[in-house]
Amino acid sequence: MDRILEPEVMDDERQAIAYAQADFSSSNQLFVDGLVDAYGSKLGTVLDLGCGPGDIPIRLARAKSSVYVVAVDASEVMVYLAHDAAETADLLRRVRVVRGRIPGLRLRCGGFDAILSKDLLHHLPDPMVLWEEIKRLGRPGAVVYVMDLFRPETQDAARQIVESVSGGESEILKRDFYNSLLAAFTPDEVRDQLRRTGLDFEVEVVSERHMRINGLL
Ligand SMILES: C[S@@+](CC[C@H](N)C(=O)[O-])C[C@H]1O[C@@H](n2cnc3c(N)ncnc32)[C@H](O)[C@@H]1O
Repeated sequence: MDRILEPEVMDDERQAIAYAQADFSSSNQLFVDGLVDAYGSKLGTVLDLGCGPGDIPIRLARAKSSVYVVAVDASEVMVYLAHDAAETADLLRRVRVVRGRIPGLRLRCGGFDAILSKDLLHHLPDPMVLWEEIKRLGRPGAVVYVMDLFRPETQDAARQIVESVSGGESEILKRDFYNSLLAAFTPDEVRDQLRRTGLDFEVEVVSERHMRINGLL
């Protein structure tokens, strides 16, 4: 099955609110636990690309009191939701939420000890912008930890994943999830993107819908 693009930025208010209200606690906690287990001592100033409503930066800041997270998203409503969530969690001193769109973020080149991103890659029409931005903004030796959906072989398989993972969620969320699965890359496509960028990261399937891409710059 070929990739079918979905809208890039989640700037529809109903869509963003449905996303913020959905329960992604298990995959988000898996993401943060895996990151802290593998690289806990290397996390200082961290950049989260495509932070959405901010659940991951907040979980990370709670898990590691030494981290400072810059959380970036291109969607005005997502930035509002993430800032609000960080304020409610009393973490505004260690979670800075910024509106920005990759490529070309106005952040210091080589300024980050770790760069994270969960479920952003499949939104990008050109996936190379993520890898190039990571290369530009991470310091030499920085941790890179990315998780994203991978594309199932058929639309039927995508439908089955949606029903098994989010059968009880709202229709808007299920529609977005289905569209995201169709827009996602396969692990081999990501390996090819990394080879073209000159990045030597591991790409590993970690669940029925997610792959993890990680390594050091
Ligand atoms: C599926 S959400 C993931 C949110 C969050 N990382 C999570 O896992 O809960 C993808 C987010 O990426 C944002 N996004 C899409 N294209 C972007 C770009 N070029 N630059 C920055 N953010 C972008 C969207 O607005 C959306 O909030």
